[in-house]
Amino acid sequence: YLLGLDIGTSATKTVLFDEYMKTVAAASEDYPLHQPQNGWAEQNPADWYNASLHTIQLVLAKSGIAPDSIKGIGLSGQMHGLVMLDKNNAVIRPSIIWCDQRTAKECEEITKKIGAQRLIEITANPALTGFTASKILWVRRHEPENYAKCAHILLPKDYVRFCMTGEYATEVSDASGMQLLDVPNRCWSDEILEKLSIDKKFLAKVYESPDVTGHISESFAKASGLSPKTVVVGGAGDNAAAAIGTGITKNGRAFTTIGTSGVVFAHTDNLKIDPKGRVHTFCCAVPGCWHVMGVTLAAGLSLKWFRDNIANDYKELADKQNKDPYVLMNEAAAKIPCGSDRLIYLPYLMGERTPHLDPECRGVFFGLSAIHSKANMIRSVMEGVSYSLSDCYDILKDMGVNVNEMMACGGGGKSPVWRQMLADMFNCEVKTLTAEEGPAFGVAILAGVGAGLFKDVVSACDEFIQIGSSCTPVPAERDYYEKGHLLYKKLYKQLKDCYH
Ligand code: XUL
Repeated sequence: YLLGLDIGTSATKTVLFDEYMKTVAAASEDYPLHQPQNGWAEQNPADWYNASLHTIQLVLAKSGIAPDSIKGIGLSGQMHGLVMLDKNNAVIRPSIIWCDQRTAKECEEITKKIGAQRLIEITANPALTGFTASKILWVRRHEPENYAKCAHILLPKDYVRFCMTGEYATEVSDASGMQLLDVPNRCWSDEILEKLSIDKKFLAKVYESPDVTGHISESFAKASGLSPKTVVVGGAGDNAAAAIGTGITKNGRAFTTIGTSGVVFAHTDNLKIDPKGRVHTFCCAVPGCWHVMGVTLAAGLSLKWFRDNIANDYKELADKQNKDPYVLMNEAAAKIPCGSDRLIYLPYLMGERTPHLDPECRGVFFGLSAIHSKANMIRSVMEGVSYSLSDCYDILKDMGVNVNEMMACGGGGKSPVWRQMLADMFNCEVKTLTAEEGPAFGVAILAGVGAGLFKDVVSACDEFIQIGSSCTPVPAERDYYEKGHLLYKKLYKQLKDCYH
């Protein structure tokens, strides 16, 4: 057996697979996202640890298997979050996570100290508020007493790894998002660390994604019921893990995920960097390869926000019918015509990365009319997120990244309405898999490689990944969305100054 954990923003999901990569048992546990100020986002690392522990215990109980028959564990999770530990390994402050926007000033400082050109040469990306380096500088400037206590810096899934194994370890895909890694050479950059005055001894050891990083510790074995014989491999950041889980391991393959964030991701055998810095270039989980991706910060988050703050009636009805509110919201959206009767939503609830790199912009409903219902608003939220993902896809095409296979995954990728929108807007087939386990599936494959069950990542993906259904673009809808996308883009241009 193999175990995959995905430590996400809304929940941790843990899935047990057999040696044919069929799901044996799964469990998930939710936790809150704290927003102490407009544009700030924090989570408690203890919530990630507890959710990991509980879901492992649940999966073991549900499956009834012998713990030492689990040969390997893979970890994936939300990227970029800053976890600081003191010399006794206690968490110093809540984690500042990927969608936090407080560090615009620190990004300017990073660019100034390293030089815009040199920063892209080494880290493959411009300084962005989402990345970890600016968060470290923010704590140093605003909370010097906390920074003085810092002995270790870890990413979210690597903090859970530390609790499970006692090792300070990370891997190239997630480490790329810290902006401290030499992305072409896949190791920490002494030059960046020196120029930013960050002590290298704070950082974890960097592995390739399928490498073994340690074993389950005696204490975690006792707490969880796992065996100390089980190895834990590097794993991957959630997007690089989803890529493995959807078979995106070769040039020409790409996926779109709609989780809390939304991503359009393409594998590249060779390093490919957007000179304008509009999309990210990171190491991927296939050893020696990279990927490019555009990120929409509030993708699933937009629909969740709508569900929790506006569509309470859908929630109540769903509770009464014992259904998921998203199912009812999807049914409502499916009845609204393409274009939501000229209602357009800009999904900038947390600022935006691709294509604007703008921490200050915020969400908009444009064109509200007395004929609109809540169902129009639901559909326009889904369309606005899809327009934003189209912006990401357009940049990849503009960079000459060739895409001949597009998969969809994540919570939003399960919605046929949303997948059809993506197919229409991208003007290409959008496919899904038979398995739904995404990043957890991906890192379990990596665990199988690390534990010696599978030969290598690419052949394991070829063996275990099966395409399920496919959405084909509808010409009339594609034409409509092409015009809608132009108006969507114009709205940001017109509003840009009003945000600042
Ligand atoms: C990627 C990013 C998000 C998080 C969310 O750069 O910030 O996709 O990984 O899970």
